[in-house]
Amino acid sequence: MVSGGDFDDAGVFRLREDLAIIQTLDFFTPVVDDPFLFGQIAAANALSDVYAMGGTPLTAMNIAAFPRCANIETFSLILQGGAQKIGEAGAFLLGGHTIEDKEPKYGLSVTGTVHPDRVVRNSGACEGDLLFLTKRLGVGIICSAIKGGAVKEEEAAAVLREMAALNREAAFAMNKSGLRGATDVTGFGLLGHLHEMCEASRLAAEVWADALPVWPQAIELAKDGLIPAGAHRNRDFLREKTEFVNTPRHLQDIMFDPQTSGGLLLAAPPAKAGKLESDLERAGVGYAIIGKMRTGRGIRILDRR
Ligand code: CO
Ligand code: CO
Repeated sequence: MVSGGDFDDAGVFRLREDLAIIQTLDFFTPVVDDPFLFGQIAAANALSDVYAMGGTPLTAMNIAAFPRCANIETFSLILQGGAQKIGEAGAFLLGGHTIEDKEPKYGLSVTGTVHPDRVVRNSGACEGDLLFLTKRLGVGIICSAIKGGAVKEEEAAAVLREMAALNREAAFAMNKSGLRGATDVTGFGLLGHLHEMCEASRLAAEVWADALPVWPQAIELAKDGLIPAGAHRNRDFLREKTEFVNTPRHLQDIMFDPQTSGGLLLAAPPAKAGKLESDLERAGVGYAIIGKMRTGRGIRILDRR
C-alpha cells in the first residue's frame, strides 16, 4: 500500500502484512513571540497528521531555519519546546537540519506506525456519520490579532495552550471507537478540510453553525472584521462548494479561518457516537458535534437558532 491521493494528512507505506509507516512533514514561521511555546505548537501541529491517520508517532526530525544575527538562546528554546512535545508523544528525536534564512522557521518531519487495516482516512466517512470537532476554532484570527497588537499573548494564554496540546488523547478515543474517517483542521480552515473529506468520501456535509466550538475572543475580533488574509483565500476557493443558510458573517469567517495545530475532525457512525463521546469525556478532551455527512456534493451550513 502506497498512498498520497485523496487529500490524506500524511503518506502511508506498508512494510509488512501487519505494519505500515506514516510519514509527514510540516514547518512554518513563528505564530507567537514566545519561542518555547512556538516550538511546542509547531511540533504538536506536525505530530497531529500522524494522529489524524490513526497512527502512533515513532520518530521525529527537526527542520529549521534561523537568521545568522539572531539570538541563539531563542533558537535553542524553539528546539526545546519541540523536543518537549516529541517526548510527550512518546516519540524519539533523531536529529534534524537547520539552514540560514532571514525569517525563522521550525517544524518536524514525523514517522509513525499503524496497522494497515486501521488507517484512518479522509475517504473513510459514510453517509449519516456525525462530525465531531475536538478543538475550538478561531486561532488564526487570534494569532494575527496578537501579531497586530490587538490582543496580548497573556490574554490569549488558554488559546495558545490548546494549540500546543497534542491530539493524542482524541486520536486514542477515535481508534478505540474504530472510526475510519478523520482529518485534522489546519490551514484550509474547518470548511476546507471538511471539503477534502467530502470529496475523498464522495459525499456532502451539513454543518450546524450554532454548534461550533469557537473561542470567544475570535467571535469579537471577527465581528470587528479582523480576519486574516488566509481566511479570505479559503472562502474564495470554496465559494462554489459552500452554501450558507441563516449563518451570520462572522461565523462564516471563523469557519474559513486557517487553524494552526487545530483539532481532529472525526466522522463517527451514529452507532459508535455514544462510545466516542464517553471516551472523549473520560480522556478530558473537549469536543462538539457540529454536523453530519449526507449524500450529494458540497457543504450546506445552517444556523438552527
Ligand atoms: Co492534516
Ligand atoms: Co499538515
